Amino acid sequence: MNEKQYIKRAEQFVKTFHNQDTTGHDWHHISRVRNSALYIKEQEQSGNKFIIEMSALLHDIPDEKLNQSKEEGDQRLNNFLESLHLEQKVKQEIISCISTVSFKGGKAYSKLSIEAQIVQDADRLDAMGAIGIARAFAYSGASGQEIYNPDLPVRTAMNEAEYRTGKSSAINHFYEKLLKLKDLLHTNTAKRLANDRHLFMEAFLDEFFKEWNGQK
Ligand code: ADP
Ligand code: NI
Repeated sequence: MNEKQYIKRAEQFVKTFHNQDTTGHDWHHISRVRNSALYIKEQEQSGNKFIIEMSALLHDIPDEKLNQSKEEGDQRLNNFLESLHLEQKVKQEIISCISTVSFKGGKAYSKLSIEAQIVQDADRLDAMGAIGIARAFAYSGASGQEIYNPDLPVRTAMNEAEYRTGKSSAINHFYEKLLKLKDLLHTNTAKRLANDRHLFMEAFLDEFFKEWNGQK
């Protein structure tokens, strides 16, 4: 198989896996992340295109939220890559790129390869702006969270256990994560794209609270 065929196989595999997802991880999310990642790569003129495209396509396959366990997710990704009979080095590069893409993985940020930085930026951009807002509410509904509840505290990363298990709200999620994303981006291209998306989220929250407080 050549690179184009590997990409086609990955596309088919993820379309099936993310089919009818209603948690914000549908195929269109994957497709947007792939397109943004390739755009960032072109603008930045760095990174290996094949690793970036494969990693973007497969980045949510091992997500714990979409599998019974972390192990099951890792196994799913590994089994698929094995079935392609890629060179071991290439397979490992894709696995390591994907494993560093999640928000929590962002802590080890200085160690990210350029490919992982680009895919992570593309993934984070998709959690911002109008699409990011839509995804946050979709995820909240799917996971039984309220739109907003003034009595729920904003969870902080300092309380990891509560963060993982405690209930929050869609609106709290903006303060817990979405408004922080612009300062966690790596590439200049993503930072440029993030500006408008960040401002749009701020304007949305302003409007939300005005309406909530009956000032409109
Ligand atoms: P990604 O798919 O970009 O890797 P996540 O799996 O963390 O990111 O989240 C998927 C989508 O669901 C994102 O748009 C994110 O903002 C949203 N989301 C994740 N956790 C929450 C939450 N606790 N409340 C509301 N939205 C959430
Ligand atoms: Ni994602």
